[in-house]
Amino acid sequence: MGKDVIIACDFPTGDAALAFLDNFTEEKPYVKIGMELFYSAGAPIIRAVKERGHKIFLDLKLHDIPNTVKQAMAVLSALDVDMVNLHAAGTRAMMEAALEGLMRPDGTRPLLIAVTQLTSTSQERMRDELLIDMPIDEVVLRYAENAARAGLDGVVCSPLEAGAVHGRCGGSFLTVTPGVRFADGDVGDQVRVATPERAKQLGSDYIVVGRPITKAEDPVAAYRRCVAEFVG
Ligand code: C5P
Repeated sequence: MGKDVIIACDFPTGDAALAFLDNFTEEKPYVKIGMELFYSAGAPIIRAVKERGHKIFLDLKLHDIPNTVKQAMAVLSALDVDMVNLHAAGTRAMMEAALEGLMRPDGTRPLLIAVTQLTSTSQERMRDELLIDMPIDEVVLRYAENAARAGLDGVVCSPLEAGAVHGRCGGSFLTVTPGVRFADGDVGDQVRVATPERAKQLGSDYIVVGRPITKAEDPVAAYRRCVAEFVG
């Protein structure tokens, strides 16, 4: 599986996202479309970005009863996206149902990636509100193992966790890692960050990079720098 840089297209409207992608005349970056853009621009923005030749990671983090997730995944799969995700907390039955829903008539399907614990969830909140007593690092790995057992392709995690996830779930289990910053750039609200080069050394399979590219003075140069550091 080739390493790639995914640009987090966190824009409020379809027009803003397409205007940003207009910058890219030579390469066709893999893009992540999340809740904000999808809820504002819907299926048409997926089709428009696909028509321009980009791969799409549709980041909607589904979590519901197995049958509902299965039917919803069938709808997303028909949009011809390349990667989708869900919460591993939905249980293995939900993850297996999601995989069934994603399968297309021609036998292909998007990659399916699990969110383990959100990075906004602290050890204390997990213990006091989610009532989970285990150390959060172990919870992340156990949820990743559940995802692997359900047949998923990988997890979203920090680059700093990529090695442990591969150790527990196998080298071909994908790690899709946000929290990437240039050595000389702003960290912003991210806490546990790594540079693209360090993410590569740590074994990330895909890095998800938002503001270091979308807010850069020259987004194409910033994207190329990520690719040069991460893919080489
Ligand atoms: O702008 P930035 O590079 O921080 O964007 C990272 C992207 O990855 C955002 O879309 C953010 O929502 C997403 N993400 C994250 N941390 C997670 C899961 C998703 O930063 N644990």
